[in-house]
Amino acid sequence: MTQFRISPSILSADFSRLGEEVRNVVAAGADWIHFDVMDNHYVPNLTIGPVVCEALRPHVDVPIDVHLMVRPVDRIVPDFAKAGANVISFHPEGSDHIDRTLSLIRDHGCKAGLVFNPATSLSYLDYVMDKVDLVLIMSVNPGFGGQSFIPEALVKLREARKRIDAYNEKTGREIHLEVDGGVKIENIAEIAAAGADTFVAGSAIFGHHDYKTIIAEMRAELAKVGQQA
Ligand code: DX5
Ligand code: ZN
Repeated sequence: MTQFRISPSILSADFSRLGEEVRNVVAAGADWIHFDVMDNHYVPNLTIGPVVCEALRPHVDVPIDVHLMVRPVDRIVPDFAKAGANVISFHPEGSDHIDRTLSLIRDHGCKAGLVFNPATSLSYLDYVMDKVDLVLIMSVNPGFGGQSFIPEALVKLREARKRIDAYNEKTGREIHLEVDGGVKIENIAEIAAAGADTFVAGSAIFGHHDYKTIIAEMRAELAKVGQQA
């Protein structure tokens, strides 16, 4: 049965008490912490950087899943690795040399992820699968929390799942398939059925008064899919 991971996006947390928020969401059952980095250049919003990652690191022991929405990417990668990130993902549009950036992330001891905007082709995976540890499918346009899930992302998830399974068959190496944007109780099962194994959810979790209940409800939805598979 697929092992599902829930990665709450702290973009929708209370920024005035982030340490407490990440502790609470991990105590409520989060598997990873999703850390959205926006530069007001690659995307039209500005969020948090390596100093905040470093400050949060001692609060939780789950993996910190850094999603870089920045251009250029390479300068900031070592800073996030030093700040305690475990997974670092970037958009191909943010790097002039995708293969090099993937190696840079791994050379700094992190798992490397490639992120696909709604209109970005999966063909960027064609020659770099050996260096990719995670494929992240955006189901909204990056920049803001609280947007609606774009249904076409299900088509792309199915396509990405095929590529990952074929690669796994050949090599035995595991690559995670993550989805980000508009994930909620109502659609998480359908998204899992399309092939995702790792689920970012910001507003759905941090907008709920009880993190434990919402995460448990998401897992109950996921369990239905696991049993079907
Ligand atoms: C969007 C971010 C997402 C976002 C998800 O650019 O990458 O991680 O915070 O938020 P929700 O779950 O509210 O769509
Ligand atoms: Zn994100």
